[in-house]
Amino acid sequence: MIALGCDHGGFILKEAIRSVIEATGNECKDFGCFSEASVDYPVIAQNVGRAVASGECEKGILICGTGVGMSIAANKIHGVRCVVCSDCFSAKLSRMHNDANVLSLGARVLGPELAKMITELWLTTPFEGERHARRVGMINKLDNGETL
Ligand code: RB5
Repeated sequence: MIALGCDHGGFILKEAIRSVIEATGNECKDFGCFSEASVDYPVIAQNVGRAVASGECEKGILICGTGVGMSIAANKIHGVRCVVCSDCFSAKLSRMHNDANVLSLGARVLGPELAKMITELWLTTPFEGERHARRVGMINKLDNGETL
């Protein structure tokens, strides 16, 4: 199950991203918004981030104008490793090396086909583990307020 959320800036792109989620064999839980009426992106980021952090959803995808606000807000949720991606290389490596569990996209930055390609790569690329697991463990310690 993939948590999906957007603000008004990402609403149009959301349906295209939903189609990628489903085409890659996943189910989608939609956390809104549901129109182009203005909403506050931190609320959507909070709800998607909490769904991922609690284990209700395996991963999350957020869409706003730039992807930036959503990613900053989502990363405030304990357990979230959100990456804002505008290229395929970063999308792939954010899964392989960082085990990113939330992807944030900028609908005003990306064309829809690139956004779909980034999403497909991100959803289908596994975490490599090994030395990267140690580093992700260190990130999780920071998330717990520990000192490295
Ligand atoms: C909304 O106008 C815009 O600020 C939002 O979509 C996003 O780009 C924030 O980072």
